[in-house]
Amino acid sequence: MSEAPNGTPIKTPGQLIAAVIAAFAVPVTIIILLAYYVDNTTRTGAGTDELAPDAVAQRIAPIAQVTIRDANAPHVYKTGEQVFQAVCSACHATGVAGAPKFGNPGDWAPRIAQGYDTLWHTALSGKGAMPPRGGTSPDDYSDYEIGLAVAYMANHGGANFPDPPKPEANAANAAEAAPGAATAAASAPGAAAAVAAPASIAQTASASAPAAPAPPTPK
Ligand code: HEC
Repeated sequence: MSEAPNGTPIKTPGQLIAAVIAAFAVPVTIIILLAYYVDNTTRTGAGTDELAPDAVAQRIAPIAQVTIRDANAPHVYKTGEQVFQAVCSACHATGVAGAPKFGNPGDWAPRIAQGYDTLWHTALSGKGAMPPRGGTSPDDYSDYEIGLAVAYMANHGGANFPDPPKPEANAANAAEAAPGAATAAASAPGAAAAVAAPASIAQTASASAPAAPAPPTPK
């Protein structure tokens, strides 16, 4: 006690060495423990989860999956914007491979000048680096939906095209059931106009109806 009048707890060289070592070891230990604490997830070795229900279900799942669609269910058409986002934007958003860039009137003006039907036809049949239907199958996107995407893109490039006529429900189902019919329609975009024809006949009929003497209404 007499050798350490200043009250320090370190009194011998041995204590000094112990204190120096502890000054390193204690913080390092705390840091290591904290690191484990932060990263404290359950660790499993590779392959130990192979009997988990999910893993088993995945292994024994049939290779081929069949999606059954009701052929008579009404077809819900995508909008032009949805088709564009899902398919066409891959090339047209940035102008890949010389594709007319979305929203760039300079790229679109000469195309728009060809007229809507020509553009629709080109989108369905392909041109240069542009794959037919943007690389999709008629089962995924009908001619009508491709047409909507064409109108959507062209209209953002300065055109003012109306949407193509919506096919009748039955016509859409028939086209789905027989891909050949869809291809036939693809080679003649006018076919869609023909589909719309019955509607216009009906309109004409109802328009001429008022000209006929109206039957007396019972009072
Ligand atoms: C793989 C890339 C790619 C995809 C996907 C793609 N296009 Fe194109 N598209 C092109 C290219 C390249 C051109 C320019 C072709 C040319 O002028 O030779 C083009 C041109 C066009 C044109 C102008 C045709 C003309 O007569 O000048 C239209 C319209 C068009 N695309 C519509 C679409 C629609 C609609 C989709 C989506 C359903 C689509 N494209 C998806 C690459 C693509």
